[in-house]
Amino acid sequence: MRLAVTGATGFVGGAVCRAAAAAGWQVSAFGRRAAADARHVGGAAYRSWDVGAAKLADPPEVDAVVHCAASATDTGVAREVWRTNLLGTHHVLASFPDCRFVHVSSASVYDPYRPTVRAKEHEAPVDRYLNAYAAAKAAAEQLVLAIARDAVVLRPHAVYGPGDTTLLPRLLQNVRGTRLLVPGTGRVLVSMTDVDSLARACLLAATAEPGWPNVFNIADSAPVTIDWALRGLLASAGVPVRPAYVPAPLLTPLALVFPAGRLNRYVISQFAVERTLDITAAIDRLGYEPAPTAFPPR
Ligand SMILES: NC(=O)c1ccc[n+]([C@@H]2O[C@H](COP(=O)([O-])OP(=O)(O)OC[C@H]3O[C@@H](n4cnc5c(N)ncnc54)[C@H](OP(=O)(O)O)[C@@H]3O)[C@@H](O)[C@H]2O)c1
Repeated sequence: MRLAVTGATGFVGGAVCRAAAAAGWQVSAFGRRAAADARHVGGAAYRSWDVGAAKLADPPEVDAVVHCAASATDTGVAREVWRTNLLGTHHVLASFPDCRFVHVSSASVYDPYRPTVRAKEHEAPVDRYLNAYAAAKAAAEQLVLAIARDAVVLRPHAVYGPGDTTLLPRLLQNVRGTRLLVPGTGRVLVSMTDVDSLARACLLAATAEPGWPNVFNIADSAPVTIDWALRGLLASAGVPVRPAYVPAPLLTPLALVFPAGRLNRYVISQFAVERTLDITAAIDRLGYEPAPTAFPPR
């Protein structure tokens, strides 16, 4: 199996490269930076490619591409987020027109204005989002489904594991003293996604029989409470702080005044209400085998 992986220098893309290499696949890895750590990309051949700039002039022949490259930020400059996440996806599609296109999307495409309760795939996209990241991820999904001859879209939520560049680092920006400030009560449920399970789902998606529907939620086997997840994440990283919950109605006016602040409306929407996914389709159709959420020491 010949696989191209974009975003290979990132958290998810690196895990996909290593899983594919371990399965004996021939992997072509792409990231934006000039060079990649060979261990991070599982020893794959690596090339630098800014997906927002242009399509690839001389793409390798592959059977599938796993598209992980993205500007994965909730407060980034909108123009750059759209350039990478939508225009970049267009360029990746144009570079690999005739193979299985596995698009790593996000559960951010579900409605941020109401709880996501065991959401099924047909419940997104919606016509309202809180930031450029979610809106561009939703638009990119639509582009992929419209253009790719053979696409599979995966929607993970809250990906965690060794090498996490997003979830834990962002959380730690809200540490004050020995407390981690978190919107809400900590008692609501959340679907977490182990990065190695997501990487396995990407390989399953790369080889699955073509068919419809081809959009799948990806998460661990059962939701956990926000408080349980946060305490596990912090303990596994050896960070000696505890969550301190701030009621969402107190934070929302502040978030309206400081829309790009660390406790912005998107962050409030992610932590204060339930965000859980129905993963039945991935289990039944892709053969995805989810594991329980667990945070071994890093
Ligand atoms: N982490 C999560 O919790 C989570 C949850 C849901 C969905 N996702 C999705 O999973 C995917 C991977 O996210 P991640 O957590 O692995 O993020 P990440 O660690 O920040 O990795 C992002 C990757 O995209 C590359 N990239 C960024 N801009 C680029 C550009 N203009 N051209 C080419 N490559 C570019 C980066 O390359 P360089 O580092 O070399 O610049 C890096 O390899 C994204 O599509 C994200 O939306 C992540």
